[in-house]
Amino acid sequence: MKILVTGGTGYIGSHTCVELLNEGYEVVIVDNFSNSKPEVTEKIKKITNKDIKFYKGDVCSRELIEKIFNENEIDGVIHFAGYKAVGESVKKPLMYYQNNLESTINLLDVMQNHNCKTFIFSSSATVYGIQDTPKYVETMERRKQSNPYGRTKSMIEQILEDLYTSDNSWNITLLRYFNPVGSHESGLLGDDPSGIPNNLMPYILRVSTHQLEKLTIFGRDYETPDGTCIRDYIHVVDLAKGHLKALKHAKENPSNLYIYNLGSGKGISVQEMVDTFEKVNNLKLNYVYGERRAGDLPEYYADANKALKELNWKTEKTLEDMCKDSYNFAINSKSE
Ligand code: WQD
Repeated sequence: MKILVTGGTGYIGSHTCVELLNEGYEVVIVDNFSNSKPEVTEKIKKITNKDIKFYKGDVCSRELIEKIFNENEIDGVIHFAGYKAVGESVKKPLMYYQNNLESTINLLDVMQNHNCKTFIFSSSATVYGIQDTPKYVETMERRKQSNPYGRTKSMIEQILEDLYTSDNSWNITLLRYFNPVGSHESGLLGDDPSGIPNNLMPYILRVSTHQLEKLTIFGRDYETPDGTCIRDYIHVVDLAKGHLKALKHAKENPSNLYIYNLGSGKGISVQEMVDTFEKVNNLKLNYVYGERRAGDLPEYYADANKALKELNWKTEKTLEDMCKDSYNFAINSKSE
């Protein structure tokens, strides 16, 4: 079975391509390297000892997507490609709406014309907005977003719901990621954003390898056991495997619009993450406590039961694995 992976050289995309290839799928990647590096394709091949078909370019280019579908019998699409930096989206909203929405609509339109109706979307827990309880379940309504990035994810979910309503031969799966961290055990793939990282683990890694001076923990006065924010961190390899389970489920079940949280179901605080990172990697991180970051919620984590029950998927890797594998990637990248 041949799967098109948009954004397949990105952090989650590349790990998912490794798992797809290991499982025997044929993989076609389209990526414009806007938030990844060209050498990732070679790393995917090195890890799996499998070949991939690669198209360099923008999913916003309808011509390119048409070319891919004309040259390949695509059985399904996993759509990762999109901008994802919350802060940047506030500064450049038009760029985010144009890129994230146009690329998705383009892709779906070409899929429809080629009668390829299996679509897995890289969504996010951010679509829940501010709920009345920290444990998020799929039946909750999507609430107000605090930034254009989050709004593009929420809008795309609505576009997909309308598409399914208009034509229920579509088989659509929305995967709502919580907080992906970690790296493949080879140390060849990882979260390596361009510029100064916004997210916690990439920032920790830059401090641990002395590329940045110190980590600021944003807020220590939240109503949580240790005063720092709580999130549901999930190892990126577990997350990647969740996509394979979703693909298998889609192929074995009638067309529908399915929604799943991909999270561990457990909340971990920033302090716990920092302490664990220091312990498993036997180092001291240089960090200070600073002001709260605007827009941060004190606590949220996944209700992970639906994915377990319907996809037979749950996380297997631990927080220690996430910290060890992340650091292994950082050290490996630095030595390259
Ligand atoms: C986690 C915790 C910070 C950096 C974001 C997006 C979300 C999703 C995942 C794509 C928070 C704290 C962070 C730092 C810190 N992305 N922190 N110092 O905000 O939960 O979610 O990434 O879908 O849409 O919003 O992740 O890693 O930025 O922050 O103290 O230098 O770490 O305050 O409590 P977040 P994060």
